[in-house]
Formats: sequence, structure tokens, C-alpha cells
Amino acid sequence: MPSADKSISHRAVMLASLAEGESRIHNFLEGEDCLATMRAFSQMGIGIERTAPGELLVCGKGLGGLVQPEKELYLANSGTTMRLMLGILAGQPFIATLTGDESLSRRPMKRVTDPLRKMGAKIQGPEDANFPPLTIRGGKLKGIQFSSEVASAQVKSAVLLAGLFAKGPTQVKEPLPSRDHTERMMELFGANFRKEGKVSVVQRTEKLTPREIRIPGDISSAAFFIVAACLVPDSEVVIKEVGLNPTRTGILDVLKEMGASIALENVREEWEPVGDLRVRSSNLQAVKLTKEKIPSLIDELPVLMVACALARGKSEIRGAEELRVKESDRIRAMCENLGRLGAEAEELPDGCVIRGKEGFRGGKVSSFGDHRVAMSMAVAGLRSEDGAEIAESDCVNISYPSFFKDLESL
Ligand code: S3P
Repeated sequence: MPSADKSISHRAVMLASLAEGESRIHNFLEGEDCLATMRAFSQMGIGIERTAPGELLVCGKGLGGLVQPEKELYLANSGTTMRLMLGILAGQPFIATLTGDESLSRRPMKRVTDPLRKMGAKIQGPEDANFPPLTIRGGKLKGIQFSSEVASAQVKSAVLLAGLFAKGPTQVKEPLPSRDHTERMMELFGANFRKEGKVSVVQRTEKLTPREIRIPGDISSAAFFIVAACLVPDSEVVIKEVGLNPTRTGILDVLKEMGASIALENVREEWEPVGDLRVRSSNLQAVKLTKEKIPSLIDELPVLMVACALARGKSEIRGAEELRVKESDRIRAMCENLGRLGAEAEELPDGCVIRGKEGFRGGKVSSFGDHRVAMSMAVAGLRSEDGAEIAESDCVNISYPSFFKDLESL
């Protein structure tokens, strides 16, 4: 099993904290990002007990139960925590300041602070509240009809979470469907939420019901092993209990289109669909990706670039400009790193062109402090004559603390 799903782990702690009573979370991701979420809710008065590794007991205090934190909330590298938390804090009658590390402090926040301001939150921060540190005073919110310019689950989720506290309905529309974990979890915890066609609608909710939930494996973490199994000759790898939410499985569609041998086994529909993946070595062909596909594999693009660099033919990834504002500028980071190994990857403003090779020479690369870049380069190293030496590789702890151990064991 890969490490637990990061997106779902964040949301589980958030909704459990806002529910009335004890929720149990099984298979919680104890990576740095999700620990930042846990810490922030503890600072706002929520009791969270780690009963065993990966097991949490969260004593939710209800939608009105959070208290003003005494100090600023330091969210380290976690964009998901900051954006979703802003949505929750928009509905709280107190002031809080959110800060982060150097990478988080460079990530655009106006996409979230703009709609939350329209709902009635007061938010201050550099460049008209586009960058952390952000100070937010929540309060009386009103519902809005919001049409997001970016297909972003973080933006959608922030507005929907604020909608739990707002007077009147809050509607969110997005240009392309992004991951829907917040919507699924709102339904599970009994929020006043419904989907009307492509529009998500939430209404003020009086009470959320505590739950016992199990977090599936993260397809974004599994992706490194899926690609590695395709690329390393004579491999067969089974990855168990992977989350197969259709808003997240673009990587499987694209790899299959490239010729990958991937079989789904034991697929079951729980509140989030889960199944096992059997992956065998495959001869991959080049692929062309356009913007419609991007949201369903946004976090898998770095490792997909490695697959393209070892596929037959010229691949092109377009419509992926969002990659430039992730934990690092992932287009630049990956093109530069692949080049250092001897691959041919050319940057475009919204993606890249990659000419596939039989293998790489190898060399020294950097993680750019970005967990997914580090893990992607580890996969690239498997097909490099001299290997890939990755500087600052401990950033894998952000989403997958046992990554190198799991890779070695394979
Ligand atoms: C996430 C949404 C995506 C993704 C991020 C996690 C989430 O970001 O890249 O790693 O948990 O909602 P955007 O919503 O900004 O695309």
C-alpha cells in the first residue's frame, strides 16, 4: 500500500474537528503537511489523540467550537492547509494569522482570499492578500455564486467550507472538474450539501455528525511506483488499497494510452472508491496532453514527465501552467533536472515538449525542496546509468515519509 491520501487526510481532520463529538480516523497520513493541519486545529482547541501509528481520535467541538489561537498558525509547506483553513476561518468570529515556509509564502492566495472577502471575511496580507502571512477576521458571511477561473480543488473547497457558515446558499462552479473529496466528505459528515449538475451547492449547516473513516492509499504516491514498474524491465508490482476516485485517476488513463500494462483488481465502492493495481513493465509510447486532462493528474505530471522522457517519440504537455505555482515551479524544476540526467525536455510557458530516450546518463539533480520532484527524480534514477543523486531529498517527508524505504524494498 502507498502512503495514505494527503488530500483526504487533511479534510478528515478538518471535518472531524467541526463535527460534534468523537471521530476516528484510520490510516491517517503522518506526513509533514497533514501534521501541520493537525497542529493548527490543536491550537484552536481541538483535542486530537494519536491512539496508534496512523490512528487518530478527534474530539470535534461543533461548527461553533473553535477558539482563537494564541499564536500564529504556522502551516509549513502545506498549500492545502492554508487555502482550506482560510475557508473555515472565514466563518469564525475571531482573528488568526496564517504563515508558512518560504515556498508557501510564494504561493498565490488571491484565488481564495477574493471570494472569501466577497462572502464577508476581512483578510490582510502582502499584495492585497495574495501571499502569506495572511491575517483573517471571520464573521458574518453571506453565500455567493462563485465561478472559479482555475480548476482548483483548493479554491472550490475553501469557498464550500466557508459556505457551511454563510447565510444563504453558496454555489461553486469550476472550468473543469477538480478532485471532489471535500464534497464527498461533506456528505458523509451530514453537511447541507448537494450537487446540481456541475454546480456544488452548500447551505449553512447547524451540525456535523462525527464519523469513523478509513483513508485510502494516495494515488499520487502510488504514481511513483506505477511509473517505476512500467519503466524497469521485468517488473511486476501490486499496489494495494489505492484511492480510485475518478477525479484523480487521469494518470492511469494516460499511462494506459501510452501502452502501460495496468490492471485494476478488487475495486470496491466505499465513500471513496478503492482498489488494487497490478502494473507490469511496458514499452511506452509518447503522448500529447491538453488542458482538459490536467486537473485529473495535476500532481502526477512530474513523474509522468519522467515516463515521457523514456517513451518512444515526442510527447507534449500543454495547458499545465498551474504547475508553475505548486510547491516549486514544477515545469522548470523537472525540465532542468531531466536535462541534468541527459534527457531532452524543453520548457513551454504552459507545459513542455519531451523527446523520449532509451535511458539516461545520470547525474546530480535537486529536489528544489519539492517532495514530488524528489520522488520523480528517484524514479528517473532507476533508468540512469550513473543513477540520480538528489540534493535535499528529505522533503519526501511532506507527503510520503517511507518513500525511500518502500522503493528500496521493491
Ligand atoms: C489539492 C488540490 C490540488 C493539488 C494539491 C492538493 C487538494 O491543488 O495540486 O496537491 O487537496 O485539494 P489545486 O487545487 O491548487 O490544483
